[in-house]
Amino acid sequence: MGRVVDLQDVLERFAFDNVCKVSFDLDPGCLNPELEEGAARDEESSFSTTFAEAFRNATFLSAQRFRYAIPRSWKIIKLFDIGSERSLRESISTVHEFADQIIHSRKKDKQTIEKQDLLSRFVASSDNYSEKFLRDIVISFLLAGRETTSSALSWFFWILSSRPDVKAKILDEIRSIRAKNIGSETNGYDFEALKEMNYLHAAISESMRLYPPVPVNAAWAMKDDVLPDGTLVKAGWFISYNSFAMGRMEANWGKDCMDYRPERWIDSDGTFRQESPFKFTAFHAGPRMCLGKEMAYIQMKSIVTPRETAPAISNNLTPTLSLWIKNGGEYNFQLSRNNLDFQPLEVNRR
Ligand code: HEM
Repeated sequence: MGRVVDLQDVLERFAFDNVCKVSFDLDPGCLNPELEEGAARDEESSFSTTFAEAFRNATFLSAQRFRYAIPRSWKIIKLFDIGSERSLRESISTVHEFADQIIHSRKKDKQTIEKQDLLSRFVASSDNYSEKFLRDIVISFLLAGRETTSSALSWFFWILSSRPDVKAKILDEIRSIRAKNIGSETNGYDFEALKEMNYLHAAISESMRLYPPVPVNAAWAMKDDVLPDGTLVKAGWFISYNSFAMGRMEANWGKDCMDYRPERWIDSDGTFRQESPFKFTAFHAGPRMCLGKEMAYIQMKSIVTPRETAPAISNNLTPTLSLWIKNGGEYNFQLSRNNLDFQPLEVNRR
């Protein structure tokens, strides 16, 4: 209670644990507060946290390469193997080492065929995948699933902090679905119940329209191509699109494009209305569209929806949990999660 928590960081650690479990059935335990506070680590947790730390460092330093005043000047630092480039090289090799170890043992494991994680499915489906190919698959999933859902939810909670009307509607929906499910096998929310939450789905989508976790996306053309509007793109050209700007364009979203209005996603019968991915580009569009979209929504909706027991953040947690969020010193807001009377979510800006 009364503890200051960086919400985005907590959500990111949660997402990393989650995506590691899905990708190769390993829980790095990044949410474990004892690990966070530097308490003694056993062999397995030490393995996992070293991996998580190296992964985080490698992602951060790779992104930093775009921030040099002189583009590509990092190549000189890399050549001399010093500073951030040395740290990046070391982190990448730690990540590769861990991933290779897991892949290697999974290939030898006789039970792989029964396992449901992504890596096991790939290993069981063919003997022809090289270890490098499997490593690239696993790493691309970790990369794609780690920062995106945490970014989306941080902005979502931030928006909710100033929109009690939206919060009330989310709570109404959650309560009515919960009332229907009480006494059932799950006694609360299962996958189907989460899918029924149309308003919550709309509220999260509307938040990603205004604050897409991947605000700008770019690609290189491998061969000459023509865009649907007739624009020629030559091989080797670099093209990018800006989801952040597209989500705020009047031509796309109408006069109220700058307003946060979940209702724009709801049909007259109360169900969620999908938008074309070429208009709502948060998950990209076309053949390389996000493969984790459905999982991301389920993950985000299950975080917003209350459980009957409090999330295990600390052993001496009292039923009402307050999280104080500080983001870069620019704003603070308080999030409290009261699970005693099934008031799932309360977000107050300070
Ligand atoms: C709110 C959450 C998420 C958002 C906004 C999001 C967004 C995106 C975007 C924009 C791309 C295209 C990237 C590019 O063109 O380079 C992408 C690709 C991808 N995403 Fe997501 N993502 C989310 C969550 C996830 C999760 C949880 C997973 C996996 C567990 C995931 C797996 C992938 C994969 C594997 C790709 C690559 C697809 C390909 O290249 O064929 N994503 N995502």
